[in-house]
Amino acid sequence: MHAPPVVSAIKEVVQQAIEKHGKTPDALIPILSEINHALGYIPAEAIREVKRQIHNPAERMYVAESQLYSLATFYDMLSTKARGRHVIKFCENAPCHVVGGKAIWDALRKDLNLENGETTPDNKWTLVTTSCIGLCSVGPVLLVDDDMYGNVTVEQILDILGRYE
Ligand code: FES
Repeated sequence: MHAPPVVSAIKEVVQQAIEKHGKTPDALIPILSEINHALGYIPAEAIREVKRQIHNPAERMYVAESQLYSLATFYDMLSTKARGRHVIKFCENAPCHVVGGKAIWDALRKDLNLENGETTPDNKWTLVTTSCIGLCSVGPVLLVDDDMYGNVTVEQILDILGRYE
């Protein structure tokens, strides 16, 4: 898991994200994505800071913390909880499911001793499900960080996990 970011670092990351994407409603998701990428997740302080920097009634720009939380918890790519050093995202939708996804999911949970959304005690792995990532033709599909694995078999799982420190 990333060490908890200090408040000054969070403010700087938020400020850079806002400078890059602007203070418009359309920028909220890119800003949250940028923060998630920089910090590994979106801490509560970052949500507060985004609101503090963007919410501006004088400019008719209204942003509520609840709105930011809704966005941050709706998208699979974003997380409001600290995650492990490596995040495994497993596609849980039907096209992957029918070509063996269930067996892969069961094996991942067993090998890592994790349920969906959990992180190993050594903070190495976080296991989460994700919606279709558009690679249905090579299902079952999983992502480890930014690496995509398709046509995954149960036998390959330990080999794939072994590639990560
Ligand atoms: S259903 Fe798994 S990638 Fe589309």
